[in-house]
Amino acid sequence: MGRLAAIGLGASLGEPLRALQLATRCLDAAPGVEVVSTSRVYWSAPVGAVATRPFMNAVVVIRTALSPARLVALCRDIEVRVGRRPSRRWADRILDLDVLLVDGVVSREPSAVLPHPRVAERAFVLVPLAEAWPAARDPRSGRRYAALPAAKVPLPVAGALPRAVAPRRSPELGRRASLAGVVPMKFFLDTANLDEIREAATWGIIDGVTTNPSLIAKEGRDFVDTIHQICTIIDGPVSAETVATDAPKMIEEGRLLAKVHHNVVVKVPLTIEGIKCCKALSADGIRVNVTLCFQPMQALIAAKAGATYISPFLGRLDDVSEDGMELIRNIVAIYANYPELQTQVLSASIRHPLHMVQAALAGSDVATAPFKVYKALFSHPLTDKGNAAFLKDWETVPDRDIIGQVNRWLASR
Ligand code: E4P
Repeated sequence: MGRLAAIGLGASLGEPLRALQLATRCLDAAPGVEVVSTSRVYWSAPVGAVATRPFMNAVVVIRTALSPARLVALCRDIEVRVGRRPSRRWADRILDLDVLLVDGVVSREPSAVLPHPRVAERAFVLVPLAEAWPAARDPRSGRRYAALPAAKVPLPVAGALPRAVAPRRSPELGRRASLAGVVPMKFFLDTANLDEIREAATWGIIDGVTTNPSLIAKEGRDFVDTIHQICTIIDGPVSAETVATDAPKMIEEGRLLAKVHHNVVVKVPLTIEGIKCCKALSADGIRVNVTLCFQPMQALIAAKAGATYISPFLGRLDDVSEDGMELIRNIVAIYANYPELQTQVLSASIRHPLHMVQAALAGSDVATAPFKVYKALFSHPLTDKGNAAFLKDWETVPDRDIIGQVNRWLASR
């Protein structure tokens, strides 16, 4: 149990990426600490006059029962174990760990000032914090850190930390640790229809969009303009698929598509050429969704090539009498065996609400579904029936104007 806490990681000397990765492992291995989410690693310019090299920064979200002071002590201990030596404030360093935030805690204890005094000032803290813990709030003002302007500054991606959630097979948990409260399964909309996307955007629960050449063709509109418009409607990952069949051309298409909007994720098929393209684009820091995955080893191949997402198609397997959900479960289990893999499981080819339920039960990171499946998710005959009964009974209440009543009640206090 315990509280969520955000740890800021920074390094500029030696092998910074390795230092951040090692620190993440050390945090996860520490008694009383469980890593539940990690951001990507970002480049940032050195702050102040002392440091000279660019820094790599990331945020790791943990769940811990440790007191803030013990958490700070643990961070100091990890810095030393990873190789940090005493240095001047703001100087280049091998590793810097800062306790940024412990959920709901305000502390002025000199051993652990919380939230960290400069947490809201710097993009290199806020960008990864917003990514790893989008719901994090300043416990004093209730303000969401992700809503601050500095959280939206585009920083170059430098790499990745070990996968967000390590496999947890302890008797108490008996399953992969839950991301509940940090990153629940993301909802992507599987369509290129702008009207559907606009309407779904008003629901406030859609995290991204996936398209494919068939969905684009169905709309009969210009491909690039459609992708750009989607990116402006939904501020989240938007998959745009390449159509070349050889890696060099696919890479060229992918690099260009990534320039259309920073939300674009380049989608490539799980072919040898697609995997070569995935490897090249991922090395450039371009996010890649590897699609048309029908067996678990394809998913491991995509992950090894640096894919951000793997799209297993469960509906199309069901269509040929195979168990699509088994594929999702197997991929989630395989990825959990190798915590350093960063690839997110994006359950695709979803045909009905039960697929969404099963994807969430399997621990899929993302599910993408057509508009009509989301509409179906909202409705249940008992919800409609129950709501109709509540509203009918409400008709018998003498003063039914809630807004007027509350305003008068507030004014009278
Ligand atoms: C999403 O990325 C896929 O392109 C899509 O889910 C495929 O779905 P379908 O099998 O219903 O065409």
